[in-house]
Amino acid sequence: MKMRSIIVGNWKMNPTQKEVRPLAEGVAKGLSDQATFHDVVICPPFVFLSAVGEVCHGGTLQLGAQNVCSEPNGAYTGEISTEMLVDAGCEYVIIGHSERRQLMGESNSDVNLKMAACFKYGLCPIVCVGETLSERQDKKTLNVIRKQLQSLSGLKECSSNCIVAYEPIWAIGTGTVATPDQAQEVHHFIRSEWGSITGSHAVKEMRIIYGGSVKPGNIDEIMEMRDIDGVLVGGASLDVSDFLRIIHYKEKVNG
Ligand code: PGA
Repeated sequence: MKMRSIIVGNWKMNPTQKEVRPLAEGVAKGLSDQATFHDVVICPPFVFLSAVGEVCHGGTLQLGAQNVCSEPNGAYTGEISTEMLVDAGCEYVIIGHSERRQLMGESNSDVNLKMAACFKYGLCPIVCVGETLSERQDKKTLNVIRKQLQSLSGLKECSSNCIVAYEPIWAIGTGTVATPDQAQEVHHFIRSEWGSITGSHAVKEMRIIYGGSVKPGNIDEIMEMRDIDGVLVGGASLDVSDFLRIIHYKEKVNG
C-alpha cells in the first residue's frame, strides 16, 4: 500500500505582500470545500511565514519553510534557525534544493548538517536530490543520487519524519517534466538505497516525492507511479486553481 501522499507548494522568492493572503486563503478554502486525503504544505518566503501560518491555523493546510540554518543560534547574520521555524508554526522545511546547491554553493555536507538540526527540533526535512541534464545524458543519474543520499549520514537515524524529493534539475522551471517512467525508476532506486542505509523497517514509512514542472496536466500520471508519494510544486503553486487541481489529483482506482 502507498504511503499517505503529500503535496508541497514551494513559492520560492514569490509572491508580494498583497498577493500572499489571497493565495494562501484560496488554497485553504479549496481544501475545506473538498475532502483531501493527503497532506498539503505551503512553503512561503520567511517574511510571510506568520501571515500564511495564520491562514493555516486550525485547518488542514500545513506550513513549511524553504531553507534553514544548521546552527542553533548566535552570530549568523541573515540566517534562521530550526527552533525559530518551529516557533513560527512550521512542520516542514525544504533543504538542499538545487537552486541553493547551484546558486548559493550548498554542499552535500551542509545539507547533512541541516538535516541533523531538523531532527533535533522535530521539523520534517524535505531533502532534495537530483541530477543535471549532462549527468543524465552521461548516464550518471543513479550514481549522483547515490552519492547525495550516502552523504546524509543523519538518514541512519531518521524516522518516518523525513521526506526525500527527487528533483531532476533539468526539469525544474523548464516545462520539461520527467516522464513517469523516468521518475519511477529513480524513486524506486531511492527507496532501495534509503532502505539499505536505514534498515528495512523504515523503507515502508518513507515518502519520496517528485518535483520539476508538475502541472495540472501531468499530475494524474505522475501520481499513478508506485514509488511516487507526492509532489513538490514550484510555479504551479502560485496559481490557486492550478494548485488545487494538483492537490485534487485523480487517484487511480485499485492502483
Ligand atoms: P517547478 O519547480 O515546479 O517550477 O519546476 C519545482 C521546484 O523547484 O521545487
